[in-house]
Amino acid sequence: MSQLRITDVKVICTAPNGIRLVVVKVLTSEPGLYGLGCATFTQRPHAVVTAIEEYLKPFVLGRDPDDIEDIYQTAYASSYWRSGPVLNNALSGIDQALWDIKGKRANMPVYQLLGGKCRECAPLYAHASGRDFKEVEENVQRWREQGYRYIRAQVAVPGMATYGSRSMSVAGRPTWEPTPYCRLVPRLFEHLRATFGDEIELLHDIHERVPPIQAIGLAKELEKYHLFFLEDPFAPEDIDYFRILRQQTATPIAMGELFVNQNEYVPLIRDRLIDFIRVHISDIGGLSMARKLAAFCEFFGVRTAWHGPGDVSPVGHAANLALDIACWNFGIQEQTVFPEETRAVFPGCPEIRDGAMWPSDRPGLGIDIDEKEAAKYPFPDLPLNGSWAPIRRLDGTAIRQ
Ligand code: CO
Repeated sequence: MSQLRITDVKVICTAPNGIRLVVVKVLTSEPGLYGLGCATFTQRPHAVVTAIEEYLKPFVLGRDPDDIEDIYQTAYASSYWRSGPVLNNALSGIDQALWDIKGKRANMPVYQLLGGKCRECAPLYAHASGRDFKEVEENVQRWREQGYRYIRAQVAVPGMATYGSRSMSVAGRPTWEPTPYCRLVPRLFEHLRATFGDEIELLHDIHERVPPIQAIGLAKELEKYHLFFLEDPFAPEDIDYFRILRQQTATPIAMGELFVNQNEYVPLIRDRLIDFIRVHISDIGGLSMARKLAAFCEFFGVRTAWHGPGDVSPVGHAANLALDIACWNFGIQEQTVFPEETRAVFPGCPEIRDGAMWPSDRPGLGIDIDEKEAAKYPFPDLPLNGSWAPIRRLDGTAIRQ
């Protein structure tokens, strides 16, 4: 019996709805047996493509695709200097594809390989935003009517380039000031509680947009509105503030979409300083690292809330879902509603209904890519090649966004 080998690694770039997605296809010596993995770092996709094609592909060719952990560990250390979103995404593309292959070989969904079902579906949180409270309220209502019980609410600060909400800016350039935002947000939640009562679960994302002490003040003020979680009160560079925040308020805290290294998240979990881990799975290296992280979180009462915006490819969402279904300490899943073009490129996109994402019993990650469809959507030309343009305070200081 000849042993199974990795025979090729293809990188597929596609932007069916304008977001630049990078997906890795690992092919094997068994005809028709391949796996898919998400390697999407939409702000620097070409750097990830190079890391895969120039470095990881030659590293894994000829390896046995069954050896997921050994491939992960050796590829991780193969650059000597490691971690970071470029190398982690490249690694994730390979790693998730190997899990997909193993599932197909076992004729089981990946969630079965991870321990089986803890729940039938993964409840989702939807995004509701608006230019003013009324518009946010209408959007919250729209999601509720579709069966959502968890809703993230963001409102535009007049004249400011507000995260999560379209808004105008003064002086013709994207402008942001933290103080008007900090005044406005508690009033938004006062309005939403007065309108919808206590049954609905509400979430909010600060997105590291305010100085740490103002974030602490905001978390305290929001306590009486009983958020499901408050996200990213601090930038990753300021995580020592969690220790102070924790002494001041019982507002549940979610953190982590920008984390790329275990030294960033392990202390926060070990010291019980956060309630939800929000990492972007491909940014920490893939499913192998995420399943360990989820298990580690379980020991410390931290629940999962994997990052799930549109710049996670549907393959990445399928990986999120596998963990959502198999991990006992699942908390919530951020949703992206996949538009029609995206679903055509990715047959088997996870199904969304009644405010939840539902797993299939297809083997592996349960998702495929139609390469002919994918080729119809080359990466668009973007200003600054997709880099984020600066947002500045009134005095001209650039903020973290
Ligand atoms: Co966020």
